[in-house]
Amino acid sequence: MLGAGAIPATSYLDIEVHGSTPSALISNPAHGLTGVIRVPGDKSISHRSLMFGAVAVGETRASGLLEGEDVINTAKAMQALGAKVERSADGTWRIQGVGVSGLMSPKGDLDFGNSGTGVRLALGLMASTPLIARCIGDASLSKRPMGRVTVPLSELGARFETAEGNRLPLTLHGAKHAVPITYTLPVASAQVKSAVLLAGLNTPGRTTVIEPVATRDHTERMLKAFGAEIAIEKRAQGRHIMITGQRELKAQIIDVPADPSSAAFPMVAALITEGSDITISNVMLNETRTGLITTLIEMGGDIAVLNRRLAGGEEVGDLRVRSSKLKGITVPATRAPSMIDEYPALAVAAAFAKGTTHMAGLEELRVKESDRLAAVEAGLKANGVATRSGPDWLAVDGGAVEGGAEVKTHLDHRIAMAFLVMGLAARKTISVDDGATIATSFPHFAKLMNGMGCRIEPRP
Ligand code: S3P
Repeated sequence: MLGAGAIPATSYLDIEVHGSTPSALISNPAHGLTGVIRVPGDKSISHRSLMFGAVAVGETRASGLLEGEDVINTAKAMQALGAKVERSADGTWRIQGVGVSGLMSPKGDLDFGNSGTGVRLALGLMASTPLIARCIGDASLSKRPMGRVTVPLSELGARFETAEGNRLPLTLHGAKHAVPITYTLPVASAQVKSAVLLAGLNTPGRTTVIEPVATRDHTERMLKAFGAEIAIEKRAQGRHIMITGQRELKAQIIDVPADPSSAAFPMVAALITEGSDITISNVMLNETRTGLITTLIEMGGDIAVLNRRLAGGEEVGDLRVRSSKLKGITVPATRAPSMIDEYPALAVAAAFAKGTTHMAGLEELRVKESDRLAAVEAGLKANGVATRSGPDWLAVDGGAVEGGAEVKTHLDHRIAMAFLVMGLAARKTISVDDGATIATSFPHFAKLMNGMGCRIEPRP
């Protein structure tokens, strides 16, 4: 686990981020959360800054990077593949890239810890270069499906040896002569889209991804900023994203905005905790990521977006959130891709809302860091909240929440944070069996929340 202090220059390489010791946390009822806070940098942009920087020409500099375990593992992987990755004492990350064809076989295994984004995007990045890399991950990542990326990357010419069921550990043999493909996404997944586009970077000719349902577009936006030849057309079958390969990328200076998926937790905390008034600053408001804000406002949440502005090619703003009387609503399935990581937080808000909240289009929740639909439902039920569910939907009957139970997190950071937030407004304390996993995406979560008036503590 990352320690609480700042990381001195380059020392991130020594940080042991795999196999952390579980530690139970307890969240006590709270009142009147206040403060102006900044949550960590966006996880999607942080991974991409390191990866795109690793194959660009020159030195990419990224500030505001999320220094969570998932991203640190990506930094280590890029270093192992030949890029030079350093962290300056002022918190700026500097990445010396090796060019789109310059990645080399790593000496040891690439350990992606808990991160699906890390491993799936890296597989794409490596697939069109003739290198050999063995990828591993923690118990959660080792259960997650990799076929969704190995299938299109094999079409392109890469070869894979995988564990049973197309899972990790997995050895990639990158293509010597990659061929461009046109691939229609069978699942709404930005990770799969990105893996194919990144493989396209070192593939001659034009690689095309067709996206029937729009997913987060950071890869397209950032590759364009790095100077990639990339074109996007909206057609009847969906968005066509075309990349012309074997063109060098130019190093960039990146200011990573705050992660809306992390902002989700203090946002819901302030809504459900009486007497609260908080501001979360510099949150990314890319419309492929703001489904939760739309939904909470529809539920009656008092959320004001202040100082909307453009920063580094993304819209950002400050969110002022005050306690609110929420009401249950139906959340359309079409909104799921724009809030796919936010359902645990939404389900907690729904537990305090008057009436029932129906959520549909949740099939992808089954293959996240845990089966999030099952984990959320089990946590709600254990704490006295009535729920119903199907393969891809969840209904939550809101009202007063009894609390009092321990929630199993299944190595899933968002399950841990969601239920610690639920403890703030439940009648009795709520605990989670493992808070260590929170460090994958939100280091110092408890400290930041406690600074606003929460009491999240190690469980005695
Ligand atoms: C991510 C895409 C999403 C999301 C993940 C980050 C990304 O996964 O759940 O946390 O950075 O591309 P899918 O694309 O598989 O839905």
